[in-house]
Amino acid sequence: MLRQVIFAFFLVLGQALAASSYLNFCDLLTSGYTSEGFVIAAECPDSNIPGCQELNIGHCIANSQGRLVAAGNGTGGFDTSCTACKLDTSKSNTETYGTLTCQCLYSAANHTVAITSIKTGETNSLGNGLVMKCK
Ligand SMILES: *[C@@H]1O[C@H](CO)[C@@H](O)[C@H](O)[C@H]1NC(C)=O
Ligand SMILES: *[C@@H]1O[C@H](CO)[C@@H](O)[C@H](O)[C@H]1NC(C)=O
Repeated sequence: MLRQVIFAFFLVLGQALAASSYLNFCDLLTSGYTSEGFVIAAECPDSNIPGCQELNIGHCIANSQGRLVAAGNGTGGFDTSCTACKLDTSKSNTETYGTLTCQCLYSAANHTVAITSIKTGETNSLGNGLVMKCK
């Protein structure tokens, strides 16, 4: 009986985790370009990775004709055609916390640059052990 109750509890917890944004469980720390791509760092208490964990969100987000769009866990690659990218890591900015803003080229042939944003709560999630991943 107790075992069933505990199982049900974790089932509900798992569903709550899946439904809510990774931003509810993680505190964003920094973001920036590295040799691997555009990496965000966050602390997600109770995760399998104590302290700071990192995710290369170049895999999660693509540049589609000057717009940042979710790319699932795919090739993404916004960081190769977008510059001046900034992630809002200030929790007091309730509307824009976790929003990535960049200047993105319209296309390889058309060098028009557009300022574009995407909420990383829609492109990132938490996997097993509360480890950040692409959706
Ligand atoms: C480049 O893309 C922009 C944005 O859609 C468009 O307004 C402009 O006409 C395009 N320029 C060329 C040369 O295709
Ligand atoms: C993408 O999916 C692969 C295979 O499931 C996984 O190993 C990898 O961690 C994922 N990458 C990201 C950035 O989520």
